[in-house]
Amino acid sequence: MNVLVIGAGGREYSIGMALKKDENVDKLYFAPGNGATDELGENLTISDFNELADFCEANGVDLTIVGPEAPLVDGIVDVFDNRGLTIFGPTASAAQLEGSKIFMKNFLARHNVPTAKYIETDSIEEAYKFINTLEAPIVVKADGLCGGKGVIIAQSHDEAKKAAGEMLSGNSFGDAGTSIVVEEFLDGYELSVFAICDGEDYVVLPAAQDHKRLLNNDEGPNTGGMGAYAPTPLVNDEIYRKLDERVIVPTLKGMKEEGNPFKGVLFIGVMVVNGEPIILEYNVRFGDPECEELMPLLKSPASELFYKAATGDLKSAEIEFYDKYAVGVVMASRDYPYKSSEPAEIIVDDIVHDDLESNAHISFAGVSRGDDGKLYATGGRVLVCVGMGDSIAEAQQRAYMLVGQVHFAGKQCRTDIAYQAL
Ligand code: AMP
Ligand code: GLY
Repeated sequence: MNVLVIGAGGREYSIGMALKKDENVDKLYFAPGNGATDELGENLTISDFNELADFCEANGVDLTIVGPEAPLVDGIVDVFDNRGLTIFGPTASAAQLEGSKIFMKNFLARHNVPTAKYIETDSIEEAYKFINTLEAPIVVKADGLCGGKGVIIAQSHDEAKKAAGEMLSGNSFGDAGTSIVVEEFLDGYELSVFAICDGEDYVVLPAAQDHKRLLNNDEGPNTGGMGAYAPTPLVNDEIYRKLDERVIVPTLKGMKEEGNPFKGVLFIGVMVVNGEPIILEYNVRFGDPECEELMPLLKSPASELFYKAATGDLKSAEIEFYDKYAVGVVMASRDYPYKSSEPAEIIVDDIVHDDLESNAHISFAGVSRGDDGKLYATGGRVLVCVGMGDSIAEAQQRAYMLVGQVHFAGKQCRTDIAYQAL
């Protein structure tokens, strides 16, 4: 089959790698792709949803997989559905689970899915009143999409009130913050759990753990994610069972009952507090960099997983994963996450080590191909070095060996990815 992947990051590159090694896949396209996806397939410069659908019709694209949230929230799936094209991802209406924190929190409450105590409001008085009932730290969130920056963990009541005031006046996040969620702080450890859903049935992928802070020991500012690993030993059968019973099943049932059957990736941000999984948030796409570790763990053909999910046929799929671990280390540019950096040429040393050659690889993200044909670091998160192994320690060692082979001016990375598991 011919497959189109929408997006430009390391996440989409890793989906592309999984499709590339899949015998069922003939032609592979990316829109827009990045400076390295052109080695896996063909990059398209089309962004309009109807024009993308035209392309798929004209070129016999059998399946489109959407990576990022923005086109989902903007309705790419609705356009493709209307034209009878097969696409993997939720409709705009179902994508509100990520697009609106208020929609998500109210949905969780309606269906008794465990989540932090909260209110949603557009009134500063109400926000203040609720803040007074909580103990610090207190969490204040803008309603809309803010590229992962709309969450403030306030260390005092005053700080929480200030954050709420700034969001509601439109000063901090514009329209995305004209309604807010204020919620209690959950103290535990965080997991990223992904369920591939076809509207009714689902497949849960090995649980991952992301590292959101820029610096070792989870210090420094929040980022899109500086590295991840999977499967994490911080989850056990009991937690998986609770996630099935209390979270995934009621969510898929609730979405269907409310006329929004959920097809796509349900990304469950979980905080485990005293052994109980509590939902922090939903996203409607793969995490980045979690996807870069999960795709190489997938043993079944990627096209089978995504095509069957997109066509409501997951029940007939037998999805298998390798009994291995993957660790991914993000290499970022000098000024990430504050500002963009000058383009820098990327040099990857020849890998002469057989062991590394077959157990580690790069997923390229913020890279562009120069007119000279060379690869340049042009984004914040430039690439992810992924190591595979029979243990987390082995996978981690291979990932960092690969990091040592990659050079570009200003490169930075954490040196402790997967530390919580070791
Ligand atoms: P979100 O965009 O809702 O995932 O929030 C971003 C990050 O803020 C999460 O990954 C958590 O690390 C943190 N966070 C969000 N809500 C809470 C909460 N109620 N308690 C503790 N940490 C939170
Ligand atoms: N790695 C977290 C995210 O993609 O939101």
